[in-house]
Amino acid sequence: MKKVSLTIDGKKITAKEGESLLWVALDNGIYIPNLCAIREKKEPSASCRLCFVEVEGYDNPVTACTEPVREGMVVNTRGTEALRLAATGFELIMASHPVDCANCLANGNCELQKIASHLKIRLKTRRFTKILRELPIDDSHPEFIYDPNKCVLCGRCVWVCRQQEKAGLGFARRGFERVVTTFADKPLGETECLNCAKCVSVCPTGALVFKEGKGT
Ligand code: FES
Repeated sequence: MKKVSLTIDGKKITAKEGESLLWVALDNGIYIPNLCAIREKKEPSASCRLCFVEVEGYDNPVTACTEPVREGMVVNTRGTEALRLAATGFELIMASHPVDCANCLANGNCELQKIASHLKIRLKTRRFTKILRELPIDDSHPEFIYDPNKCVLCGRCVWVCRQQEKAGLGFARRGFERVVTTFADKPLGETECLNCAKCVSVCPTGALVFKEGKGT
């Protein structure tokens, strides 16, 4: 495939033409907040609305996960407008996300903590009214726990599960009620889960985590 040269945050980079700007940046050590992107997924869902960047010559910021790289592109991941949009998207997510990091098994390995630090905003944002879901935690699976209250609906687990022979996870319901669940809302331990644990490995938060002593 043809190679192109572009500049991201002043750094000169060579990449394959048409590659996603998000992965090109990440592969070159330039962090862009993201929750819903999966490298292997050809059509990005672009649902988290966090990966905004500014591209020279464009009127408005664009999502890096949907933007293919091209020759001569000049990208700014730190532009005021791009960061403002990302911060708003992040604060909306945090408006329904419990913040109890000290008691969360994902503490220190959570993408939300990384994004908050990158955007220089608090996890306990006060900008939007906090409305928490109070859904039951599913610990029926022998290997891992699913806490839907910590799910940010990025869809990564659903996508990797659907690549397996027997898909167990999917989305159900709409709006604020939307949730990742199993067919007929069965507890995970009662499904035909293949125990591949790929859902746990791609979860960016503490929604799907290994039980203590498992998954090591
Ligand atoms: S990573 Fe681009 S919108 Fe989610």
